[in-house]
Amino acid sequence: MIDAKKIIEIVDAAAKKIDAEKDFLTQLDNEIGDGDHGINLSRGFKSVEEKLATFADKDIGAILKGVGTALVSTVGGASGPLYGTAFMKAGNVCKGKFTLTDEEIATAFNAAVEGVKMRGKSAEGEKTMLDSLCPAYRAFQGGVDGGKNLVQALEDAVNAAAQGVEYTKTIIATKGRAAYLQERSLGHQDPGATSSLYILQAALDVLKKG
Ligand SMILES: Nc1ncnc2c1ncn2[C@@H]1O[C@H](COP(=O)(O)OP(=O)(O)O)[C@@H](O)[C@H]1O
Ligand SMILES: [Mg+2]
Repeated sequence: MIDAKKIIEIVDAAAKKIDAEKDFLTQLDNEIGDGDHGINLSRGFKSVEEKLATFADKDIGAILKGVGTALVSTVGGASGPLYGTAFMKAGNVCKGKFTLTDEEIATAFNAAVEGVKMRGKSAEGEKTMLDSLCPAYRAFQGGVDGGKNLVQALEDAVNAAAQGVEYTKTIIATKGRAAYLQERSLGHQDPGATSSLYILQAALDVLKKG
């Protein structure tokens, strides 16, 4: 179970984490992209932070939609529309809700991942953010279905995302800018898969604090 206040805390923690890691994310994108992922995303989350106060009395659907809209309109590059769609799609299934059960969180997580696939015309195994998000969602859903509590299920999700990031080093990119490099994309970890891991880690850190 989670409430709207916690969602706002998680968004705030994700923004801070992305800002703290922006140089590393940009370095990763320098290796196989155009070196802007950290800058792009931290700019987007900064605009989200500026909107946080306006989310105070809103339901979870409206908060997530607000996050998505801010990301779409401020993040240059592929990751803006992709993360934006993820948050907006999650928001759609949380309309009018001020609390979410763990099952409802899993439903929102799934909607976010499906949103990325739809917007990116992409799938797992193409060296993108989906290589951390898809296994993370499966682990989370599996944990919830198996009767784990929210922190345990999210811990499983974070571990699966971290493994997914490692996996991106072993595959050739077939989507996004890194695809231009073909075999030369091997050995490098995907920036978007890494930022997705950071967002999940931020959520876990907040929930662990209770
Ligand atoms: N079609 C896609 N589907 C899913 N994720 C994608 C797709 N294209 C790119 N990405 C993700 O976006 C990340 C790059 O983001 P960013 O650098 O902000 O955008 P750009 O590539 O336009 O410079 C990649 O590391 C990858 O994870
Ligand atoms: Mg880039």
